[in-house]
Amino acid sequence: MTDSPRPVVLTGDTPTGRLHLGHYLGSVKKRIEMLHSHECFFLIANMHAFTTRADHPEEIRQDCIDIVRDQLAMGVDPEHCSIFLQTEVPAISELTYLFSMLLPFNRVMRNPTLKDEIEAKGLGDTYPFGFPLYAVGQTADILAFRAHNVPVGEDQEAHLELTREVARRFNKMYCGVPLKVDDADHVEHGGVFPIPVADLSKVTRLVGTDGKQKMSKSLNNTIMISDTPKKVKKKVGQIFTGRQSPTEKGDTSNALFQYVDAFILDPERIAELRDRYARGDDIGDGHIKVEVADAINELLDPMRERLAAMEGKDDEIMDILKVGTANAIKATEETLDCAKEAASLHFFDRSITLK
Ligand code: TRP
Repeated sequence: MTDSPRPVVLTGDTPTGRLHLGHYLGSVKKRIEMLHSHECFFLIANMHAFTTRADHPEEIRQDCIDIVRDQLAMGVDPEHCSIFLQTEVPAISELTYLFSMLLPFNRVMRNPTLKDEIEAKGLGDTYPFGFPLYAVGQTADILAFRAHNVPVGEDQEAHLELTREVARRFNKMYCGVPLKVDDADHVEHGGVFPIPVADLSKVTRLVGTDGKQKMSKSLNNTIMISDTPKKVKKKVGQIFTGRQSPTEKGDTSNALFQYVDAFILDPERIAELRDRYARGDDIGDGHIKVEVADAINELLDPMRERLAAMEGKDDEIMDILKVGTANAIKATEETLDCAKEAASLHFFDRSITLK
């Protein structure tokens, strides 16, 4: 699959619960747009989930199934991508071990994303050894597919930088890539790994229905795809703007207008709303909220339908994961072969099949 002329995309999620509208806008929508132009691999980072929840394995297992169900409901077409389980792709673990030899320990611990997470999750100094190791694991997630593009949020940029460092080091140390070579030319010079690029621009953050913080389950400000149309109306109605009357000049950079921009499809209508709102031309927040809620409900309708059709059908989801995982194994075994060859670690051939 990696022989395909289409650029390879690898991205993924740590399974932590059901997906909401913020996930859709922030990542899933962009993934759907890439299905036909890229060779897409979407990883369920279930090993990473063990870094903080090793004591809840059944919950993690269910989260894996739910996250796939929600992605499919949102419109990710499994015919045009491979959705797979991290723990069922052995090459990822093997490359993690190998890459851990190429990274100074202190370099890993300096990773600001790790530091932020330790802080945010209150892990103190009690986190497991596997916690910093997951940053190395993420480099393997990406490089195992020889991915060119990694669409992620800004918070993942530090992991991407680490990934690029490992790839450069590997290519120079084991593949004879000269010291001063542009990132773009590594493969041309014999490197096993292309130096991947983070597509940060492709990720947008949606503000929650509190109008303040980013949409997040723990903040109780989400719109879920399973919400009824009525519930969506109610939640959108709660978006706080602080505007008092339809004739007050409004701020079109407020939370409500983030929703207008994100969900109303007709650009002319958006321009009109912006213009009237800014001038306070007799246009109430309530009126705009109804329009936004209608637009969201139109978007969610087919998602709700697909979700309902898949409710209780874990077997079908497992089948989709199995096909995706088999594709992932094939692609990563090819990479692992090349990497082992380069590092003088290739002793025997092997093949892995799922039963
Ligand atoms: N760490 C990412 C997150 O929590 C998930 C992830 C794991 C990932 N491996 C990846 C994302 C590889 C992109 C590429 O969101």
